[in-house]
Parts: sequence; C-alpha cells; structure tokens
Amino acid sequence: MIYNMDCIEGAKQIIEDNSVDLIVTDPPYNLGFGGTTQTKTKRPRFNIIANDNLPHRDYQRFTFQWLRQAYRVLKPGRHIYVCIDWRMYPLISLWMQQVGFVIKNCIVWDKVHMGMGWQYRFQHEFIIFAVKGKQKARRIGTRKARDIWSIPKIPGNKTVHPTEKPPELIAPMILNSSHPGELVVDFFLGSGPVAEAAIVNDRRFIGFEIDPGYFQITKKRIELIKHK
Ligand SMILES: C[S@@+](CC[C@H](N)C(=O)[O-])C[C@H]1O[C@@H](n2cnc3c(N)ncnc32)[C@H](O)[C@@H]1O
Repeated sequence: MIYNMDCIEGAKQIIEDNSVDLIVTDPPYNLGFGGTTQTKTKRPRFNIIANDNLPHRDYQRFTFQWLRQAYRVLKPGRHIYVCIDWRMYPLISLWMQQVGFVIKNCIVWDKVHMGMGWQYRFQHEFIIFAVKGKQKARRIGTRKARDIWSIPKIPGNKTVHPTEKPPELIAPMILNSSHPGELVVDFFLGSGPVAEAAIVNDRRFIGFEIDPGYFQITKKRIELIKHK
C-alpha cells in the first residue's frame, strides 16, 4: 500500500504502534537539493525536493516528528536504516538517539562512480543502522555482511528523481533485517526503490510520498513489478 500524503499524518492515521518489522527510508537532507544533472539549456532537470530547504528549526521539528512516528510504529528490537550524507550525519544520528533509537553502525555506501564537489569529489553516503530499544535486538541475517557497500549509483542521465537510490542498495537491508511476509515501511518513497526491493522479496509494504509526481512514478513502478 502506498499513499500520496505527508508521512507524519499518514503514519498517525494508518500504522498501529509496534506493528512494523523494518523501516528503510531516505529523508530530505535539507541541503536544498534538486539534483546536479542539467538539461541542454543548463537548467536543472528537477525541482528542489519537498522539505529539503527549511530553516534549521523547522527541519529539526519535521525530523523529530517523523522519527517519533518511526519509533512508535516499529516493533521493539527491529531495525531502521536511514540514508544521510556526512553533512547531516551528526544531527540525524543525535536526533535518532534522542527519540530512543540505539545506533548500531553506520554503513558507508561507496557509489563506485564519483559525483560533484570541488574539494575531493563526492563518492559516498552514509546509512545509519539502528534498533528500537536497548534489549533483544534482532540480529541481521548473516555474519558476513560488512559496513562498506560498493554499489554503483544510477547514472545522472537515467535518474527520475534527484536523489535516487538503486534498488540493489536497498535489497540487502530488506533481506538482512526482515523475513518474507513481514511489514516494511518507507516514510519517503521518492521514485520507489524501497517499495521495489520489498515487493520483489515478498514483504508487505507501506510507503508515503508527498509529491504527486514522484508518487505516480512509484505507483507505476509497483504496477510493472506486479504484472511481471
Ligand atoms: C531523499 S528523497 C527519497 C528518494 C528515494 N530514496 C529514491 O530513491 O527515489 C525524499 C522524498 O521524500 C519526499 N517527502 C518530503 N517530505 C515528505 C513528507 N512530509 N511526507 C512524505 N514524503 C515527503 C520528497 O518529495 C522526496 O521525494
């Protein structure tokens, strides 16, 4: 089930306390990002994403609101993965701990190909890996997994969203931290890679996206998977 609505309101209305097995999500980083790829006219291909250009206080309030909902709906001991970059890592990891999550690790996504940047070009992002509560955390499904993942990013001219993540990046999180039939939630769908990775691996899924255009992209993506 996916919903074209604000994730904070959506979670309040739709998701019961302690009912979710896994959260995988990629929130706005508040970096005013609309993507780096340009058209021939040198104009950005994408608008700045929703809630990505807020005054600091508003971003903090917004982040606390969705994190509190994430904490409420997740089952105790279950995992949450939050994508973030180095600039916002200190704040998001602090705020996650303040709502009660216990940070277990920080996965480094090596995007294999370099991106923008003048002082060393960007090639990595972080994924915060945390659990709800201090006791009886579920273990990930393998002892071989390491915390640096080299997975190629999607080339800029093939993306349909300015901060698009490849489904290959999301699949290990789904497979390591949930079982078939369990409920996975994404608060910020974007173009829907978490939806894809959850559905193809037979998980139940709930996701929210506030932007009607990106919601339609995810909806079509799910329809294509179901008709395969
Ligand atoms: C960082 S992007 C996610 C990109 C996604 N991982 C992908 O690969 O396409 C964050 C998304 O959250 C959406 N968003 C922002 N505020 C929201 C809110 N309050 N509720 C639901 N979605 C929201 C934005 O429109 C944007 O598409």
